[in-house]
Amino acid sequence: MERHTTSAGHDQNANRPGRAPEKVFRRKHLLDLESVSADELRVILENARGFKEIFGRSIKKVPALRGKTVCTLFYENSTRTRTSFEVAAKRLSADVIGFSIGTSSVAKGETLIDTARTIEAMGVDIIVMRHHQSGAPHLLAKRVEAGVVNAGDGTHEHPTQGLLDAFTILEQKGHFEGLKVAIVGDILHSRVARSNIYALTKLGAEVTLVGPTTLVPRTFEQFGVRICHDLMDGIEKADVINILRIQRERMTANYFPSIREYRLLYGITRERLQASKPDVMIMHPGPVNRGVEIDQDVADGPHSVINRQVTNGVAVRMAVLYLLAGQNEEI
Ligand code: CP
Repeated sequence: MERHTTSAGHDQNANRPGRAPEKVFRRKHLLDLESVSADELRVILENARGFKEIFGRSIKKVPALRGKTVCTLFYENSTRTRTSFEVAAKRLSADVIGFSIGTSSVAKGETLIDTARTIEAMGVDIIVMRHHQSGAPHLLAKRVEAGVVNAGDGTHEHPTQGLLDAFTILEQKGHFEGLKVAIVGDILHSRVARSNIYALTKLGAEVTLVGPTTLVPRTFEQFGVRICHDLMDGIEKADVINILRIQRERMTANYFPSIREYRLLYGITRERLQASKPDVMIMHPGPVNRGVEIDQDVADGPHSVINRQVTNGVAVRMAVLYLLAGQNEEI
C-alpha cells in the first residue's frame, strides 16, 4: 500500500501544515464514502493503523482531541457503532456526550435541526449521528457549524463500517488489488453494502454481490460489481465473504418466501464454507442472526474475523475523528 502519512497515534508532527494528511484529507464532515477518494481512504486506513498500535499499551489514550467535545446523536438503535465512537473519542481524550433520544425533548416534537443546534450551542465540535432517514446527516451538515459524521443513515451509507471492513481486509490480506470480496445477503436495504462497495472498488478489490434477485437487483451493476444469484457460484473463489443480515425492519414487501427458505439457499454453513477457498475470511458487520444468514460454527469458527472488526472499528473511528477535527485548527 502506498504510504501517505505517518502513524497518527504517536507522531506529534503528523498534523502539521504541509504534511500529507492535510493535503489529501480536507473535509469537515464524513457523510458517505461515495465522495471519498482512494487517496483519502488510504490516509484514513493508515492513520487507523497508527491508532491501533496504542491498543496494546497499558494506557490506551492519546491527547489528540483534548479540549474537543464529541456528541453521539443516535435516532436508531446501536450496540457497536455508538459504543465504538464513544470509546474512540475517549481514547483521543475528547469530552464525550452520549445523547439519548428516548429521554430527550425529541419525544415532545423537537426537530432534528433544533436538537442538533441545541447540542451545538453547548460547544460540541463533532456530532456523530445515526438516523433512520437516508440523507439526514447531509441535511444536518448544511445546518450546523459542527463537523458531522454519518453513523448510518437509512438504507444509504454507513461510512465508518465500510472503512473498518476495508481496514480489517487490509490487515488480514495485506492488499486490495485483485482481491475477490463477496458480499452476501440483503444488499437492497444495506447501507453497509453501499459503503463497502464504494470503498473496496476504489481500492482495487473485485466485489461480487450475492443474494436473491429481489434483494440483489441488477441496478447495482452500475457500481462496477458482479451480481450473482447462486450462492456457491458467488463464494467459491472469494478471498473474503462479508455476510449481511436480513433487515426485516426495513422491508415493505415479501422479498423471499420464508426465513427457512432464505437459510436453505443463502445461509453460510460449515459445509458450504468447505467448498470455498481454504484461507477465506468471514466477516459480518453485526448484529448477527445466528442460524439465518450465518451458522453458529461459522460465526465463531477459525475463518471468522467478526470480533476483530469490532476492535478495528475503534481504531478507524479514532482516525476519522482525528482527521476531521484537524481541519479547523491545529491539534
Ligand atoms: N454494525 C453496526 O452498525 O452495528 P450496530 O447497529 O450495533 O451499531
